[in-house]
Amino acid sequence: MRKPFMAGNWKMNLTTKDAVALARALKENLKDVTEVEIGIAPVYTVLAAVAEVVRGSNIQLMAQNLFWVDSGAYTGEISGPMLKDAGCSHVIVGHSERRQYFGETDESVNKKLKAAFASRLVPIFCIGETLAERERGQTPAVVERQVTKGLEGIPASDAKNLVIAYEPVWAIGTGKTATPAQAQEVHASIRSLVAKIYGQELADGMRIQYGGSVKGDNVSELMKQSDLDGALVGGASLKADSFIAIVRYQP
Ligand code: PGA
Repeated sequence: MRKPFMAGNWKMNLTTKDAVALARALKENLKDVTEVEIGIAPVYTVLAAVAEVVRGSNIQLMAQNLFWVDSGAYTGEISGPMLKDAGCSHVIVGHSERRQYFGETDESVNKKLKAAFASRLVPIFCIGETLAERERGQTPAVVERQVTKGLEGIPASDAKNLVIAYEPVWAIGTGKTATPAQAQEVHASIRSLVAKIYGQELADGMRIQYGGSVKGDNVSELMKQSDLDGALVGGASLKADSFIAIVRYQP
């Protein structure tokens, strides 16, 4: 009942020519896909060009971040209405690289989630523990804190559209994937946290993506887990073939 959602996070990669070529290849080779939702998140400077390519297709345009004020004296920032204007329907919020390198906190992530909803953008809300936290046995506490604080004050009418991405920081870009069982355990706990806040029905409908070194050859095993509803893909989303293999995983 939850439609799988495969999203490509292009991170700080690709200028116009290569971004447009990749978007074209995905559009052409994925046009028959109806059972899986698809999204790509290019850098801001190529959003408009990529929007032109994917318009009217089954590929949704996403941004990688946003600021929570609509406009004003905030040099270097970008707002929800601006992302909407560029053609985005989704936005990644709270990616661990933003938490790690750009000082994002549970509080700023909460403001950004609210701003995304206010602009009618679907947020992909990223959470996940570091290696040190996992080794100290803190994964459940970290995930609970990130979910609870991130969703503070967000009504069910918004939360029902939310997508969560569980991305253990130690698995991002390292080639180390969580085992399907490790991922499933955390995904199930995230779903029960969401159920505690919003009720079982909303939790049962929420997509929870896994992220961290997802590739064509590990995606099917991960997707067999009952609480995994898709993937947020970094490295393997930068080449048409490898992202196509993920979208076309063997269920
Ligand atoms: P990766 O990145 O697939 O390169 O590990 C995932 C992510 O950071 O979203």
